[in-house]
Amino acid sequence: MTAPDAASIVRLSTAYWESQTLLTANRLRLFDTLADGALGAAEVAAAQGLDARSTELLLRGCAALGFIEAGADGRYANTPTAATFLVSRSPAYMGHAIGYSDQLYATWGRLEDALRSGRPALPAQAYLGDDAVRTRTFVMAMHERALGVARALVGCIDLAGRRSMLDVGGGPGTYSVLLTARFPGLRSEVLELPGVAAVARELVAQAGASERVALRDGDYHGADFGSGKDVVLMSGMFHRETPAACRSLIARAAACLDRGGLLVVADVFTDAGGTSPAFAAMFGLNMMLTAPDGGVHADADVQRWMAEAGFVELRTTALPPPMPHRVVTGIKR
Ligand SMILES: C[S@@+](CC[C@H](N)C(=O)[O-])C[C@H]1O[C@@H](n2cnc3c(N)ncnc32)[C@H](O)[C@@H]1O
Repeated sequence: MTAPDAASIVRLSTAYWESQTLLTANRLRLFDTLADGALGAAEVAAAQGLDARSTELLLRGCAALGFIEAGADGRYANTPTAATFLVSRSPAYMGHAIGYSDQLYATWGRLEDALRSGRPALPAQAYLGDDAVRTRTFVMAMHERALGVARALVGCIDLAGRRSMLDVGGGPGTYSVLLTARFPGLRSEVLELPGVAAVARELVAQAGASERVALRDGDYHGADFGSGKDVVLMSGMFHRETPAACRSLIARAAACLDRGGLLVVADVFTDAGGTSPAFAAMFGLNMMLTAPDGGVHADADVQRWMAEAGFVELRTTALPPPMPHRVVTGIKR
């Protein structure tokens, strides 16, 4: 048995200080201000319209977190981590994904409300079409995240020779764009809610992929999945759905696939029992706060549901860290 230890309690009771420091610096585009070279606190404050004394404390806080280096001359510069991921002109910029976490900060403050009511603290429709600004931030966050996750996924599934993919709840379409680029001859249809699909259409066109990736407006609970598919991708949507709905989606995937067709289910999954990894257990709470049936499933359960629907050669692959995603694949018998 592990001995009682207060260290993690002390640490976690103030962990939001660090989150809010990063979220605020990102929101202020602090790292863009330092992108062209080191500046003193007063210069940063002037550029940002902030109070100089407070800005110095923020810069020191960011330095403590590893995003900024404090020079002996009193000037502050971005670290390589900030320059790579937090400056908006960098191709690996993560600011939109961080912005999505920023939007959810107040939602997490309402965790107790959600526990009492059993309802999400943030109505999902807000970021899935009703509120144009939130919807765009959500889609851009998914896109940035997918650029990392999908690159890893592309390396771990082989779609060579496959021609017709249905990307259910495909969000920004990023997976479809990257997979159809990697596997010539593959075409994909992304089934998405209209408000999200509208932003996704722009992103697919910007990527020059409109010929190979089509967007279809629809609700994946009722839409016709068609027939003659040889790949179905269900990425990042099981965490919004109950086990019964996941089983129904798997059964409909089986029905639209030809024999030998591949079902790919990618998501954050827990180990059996639901208490590890810690990120996945926390992700379950995040989804409970933001979607009516939101939560997190164990990949072992997904494998069992797929076996029940007639899939064979079931396999779970973990994407490389820092990505917390796992990919469950199976072949239609
Ligand atoms: C977390 S995102 C995942 C997007 C993308 N597949 C990925 O992995 O990056 C979940 C997606 O499911 C879509 N979605 C949720 N409910 C839906 C429904 N009933 N019909 C169609 N799409 C839905 C959302 O709009 C959102 O884009």
